[in-house]
Amino acid sequence: MSVKSKSVLVTGGAGFIGSHLVDRLIMDDPAKIVVVDNFFLGHMDNLDSARAARPDLEIIRLDASDLAAMQDVVTSNGIDTVFDLAVVPLPTSLDYPDWTIKTNVGIVTTFCEISRRGLVERFIHISSSEAYGSARYVPMDEGHPHDAITPYAASKSAGDHIISSYVQTFGIDATVVRPFNNFGPRQNPGSYAGIIPIVVQKVLAGDPIEIHGDGEQTRDFVFVRDTSDFIAEIYATPACRGEVLNLATGKETSINELVTRLLAALGVPDHPVIHGPERPGDVRRHAADVTKLTSLLGRQAGALADNALAETADWYRSVLTK
Ligand SMILES: NC(=O)c1ccc[n+]([C@@H]2O[C@H](COP(=O)([O-])OP(=O)(O)OC[C@H]3O[C@@H](n4cnc5c(N)ncnc54)[C@H](O)[C@@H]3O)[C@@H](O)[C@H]2O)c1
Repeated sequence: MSVKSKSVLVTGGAGFIGSHLVDRLIMDDPAKIVVVDNFFLGHMDNLDSARAARPDLEIIRLDASDLAAMQDVVTSNGIDTVFDLAVVPLPTSLDYPDWTIKTNVGIVTTFCEISRRGLVERFIHISSSEAYGSARYVPMDEGHPHDAITPYAASKSAGDHIISSYVQTFGIDATVVRPFNNFGPRQNPGSYAGIIPIVVQKVLAGDPIEIHGDGEQTRDFVFVRDTSDFIAEIYATPACRGEVLNLATGKETSINELVTRLLAALGVPDHPVIHGPERPGDVRRHAADVTKLTSLLGRQAGALADNALAETADWYRSVLTK
């Protein structure tokens, strides 16, 4: 059961993961596909391929936390399913914690309410492994305690709890997907950039790479097209309904290893690397237990691959030298 013949809404669809998900969903030929994004970090360019494939793609510039506006979007477009990826990101939460929390919680609550009112059939919410905080045990399964460190993480954790309350109290049909660290083309290279675009920027500028702390902190890096494939498959798999699911490779990579492999992909293996102070709120280890997703879908996302890193590095090189 794919989204074929369904009408779907993707919030945050002009963003990094959201735009790849829009590309992926279009492959299944939905009857209608609508993007809601307020373009806080999203870019119209991210939807170029989607607009070429589906000239009827509707892109609406709105705040996804606005219940009345979202109710109108859902009813006027006959939306069956919401894929919810709109988010104010982690670095913003360090400068504007109150606004980040209110917005992120507001977005989730909006779609819980729309589901409770019976206006959509299914709600697929994209949460984050950040909700777990630093690992108390490894690998981290879906039952790992929530030890949110940053206000962003707390807002993601709160969203998951709100969804769980609506599932248990009102019986809404919601699935929570918790991706670990994503990488790939279209990840914002601007002021709130992640480690990969920062490395490419430093290489292009001839500056040393600064790693926060000793670099032995680990993450589970998953390629964004794998993430969007898995989200589409989670939608299509009835056994995933109502579940909370980690989405990751199940393999830990240290920041030191990531930087070394990325510099090799960029053809500058000897580029200077220095170590600076630890970043406040940085979690030490993130390693996913993907047993649940693997058993439900019968497959696992591939480990960090050099060709995916090279494709990502090429994309950044092209946008940063434009
Ligand atoms: N990137 C990762 O590594 C990662 C890891 C785990 C989970 N996630 C989750 O995946 C989802 C997508 O993240 P991303 O990395 O693509 O981020 P992103 O910032 O690229 O995309 C988020 C999009 O939401 C839009 N947005 C922000 N506030 C909005 C609002 N109030 N109304 C409408 N649109 C709004 C932004 O403009 C942007 O286009 C988020 O839920 C995030 O928590 C991301």
